[in-house]
Amino acid sequence: MSTVPNFKLNTGSLMPAVGLGCWGGFTKEDRVQAESWILAALNAGYRHVDTAWLYGTEPYVRGAIKQSGVPREEIWITTKLPWHHPGNRTVEQSLDESLRNLGTDYVNLYLLHWPQVIDWPDVDVDFVREIKARDQPTFNETWAGMEEMYKKGKAKNIGVSNFSIKTLEQLLTTANIVPAVNQVELHPYLAQEELKAYCDSKGIVLEAYTPTGYGDVRSDPLIVELAAKYKVSPAQVVLAWHLARGIVIVPKSANAERQKENINLPMLEPEDVKRIMALNRGQRLCNKPDANNVVHGWTVAQLGW
Ligand SMILES: NC(=O)c1ccc[n+]([C@@H]2O[C@H](COP(=O)([O-])OP(=O)(O)OC[C@H]3O[C@@H](n4cnc5c(N)ncnc54)[C@H](OP(=O)(O)O)[C@@H]3O)[C@@H](O)[C@H]2O)c1
Repeated sequence: MSTVPNFKLNTGSLMPAVGLGCWGGFTKEDRVQAESWILAALNAGYRHVDTAWLYGTEPYVRGAIKQSGVPREEIWITTKLPWHHPGNRTVEQSLDESLRNLGTDYVNLYLLHWPQVIDWPDVDVDFVREIKARDQPTFNETWAGMEEMYKKGKAKNIGVSNFSIKTLEQLLTTANIVPAVNQVELHPYLAQEELKAYCDSKGIVLEAYTPTGYGDVRSDPLIVELAAKYKVSPAQVVLAWHLARGIVIVPKSANAERQKENINLPMLEPEDVKRIMALNRGQRLCNKPDANNVVHGWTVAQLGW
C-alpha cells in the first residue's frame, strides 16, 4: 500500500495524484450533504479536492476546509470555468466568484471545464435543461483569459477538461501557456492511450474523472480477480492502475470507509497493469453521446472524441 504520491506539473507545482471528486449530485438537498463528507475526507488525509462552479459544491469545500483546521496552503484546490461563463462574463469575473465561494484568493488549478460554449442560465445548476451551443467565443479566446488568471496569480496552474487531441491541437495554435493538466473521462473501459501519449509528448498531465469506472468496471471479472489477488477492493485495483500509468485521479466517495480505501492503494505488478489495459473498449460511462452523437451541444466529431 502506498501513500499518495505527488506528480510534477509543467509549472513545477507538485499535485497530489489522488484527490476527492466533489460532484455533489443533481439536487440542492444532495449538494448540502457534501460539506460533511468533504470534511470526513480531509480528516482522513485527503489534501486535494476537485470541484467546479457547475457542481455547486464550492461553498461546501470552503465550509469543510474551515471546519477541518487544515491550513489552506496544505490543500490543493481545483475548480473549473463553466461552459456558459466565457460568453456571459469574463473569465476573471467567473473565477472571482469561485474564489469567493471557496473562501480563498487563489486556486491551485483552474480548468476550462469544456471546449464548447453553451447558453445556460446563471441560476442554480439545472442539468435537465435543454442545452444550446453557440460558436463564440472560441476556446482559444477563452484560454487567453485563463492565461491572464495565471499571470495574476489567481490560478497557480491552468488546464483544460474534456479536451481531445483534436481540440488540444487547436488550442495550441494560439496558446502562450501549455495547459498543465487535461482532465477527461478515463477508466479501464476507456483507457485513452493515444491521448495519454499525446499529452506526455506536450508535458500535459492527464487526469481521470470517473476513475473507478462505476459498478460496470468494478464488477469486471478481471478486476474482481485482481482484487482477490492483492486483497483489496475492486475500486482500489482500478485506482492503482491509473497511478501506475502516471495519471492523476479524483474518485468521489461520500462514504468514510471508501474514501480511506481510495487513498490507500496497492502497487500493481506491470503484468497486471497490461492485463487491465486489454479491457479497453472505448466505452464512455459518464458523459455518453446521445442518439445523435451529441454531448452537451457538440457532436462527437466536434469534440474530437
Ligand atoms: N471534468 C468533468 O467534466 C468531470 C465529469 C465527471 C466527473 N468529474 C470529477 O470526477 C469526480 C469523480 O467522478 P465520478 O463521480 O463520475 O466517478 P467515480 O469517482 O469513479 O465514481 C463515484 C461513484 O463510485 C462510488 N465509489 C467511490 N469509491 C468507491 C469504492 N472504493 N468502492 C465502491 N464504490 C465506490 C461512489 O459511491 P459512494 O459515494 O457511495 O462511495 C460513487 O457512486 C467527480 O466527483 C468530479 O470531481 C469531472
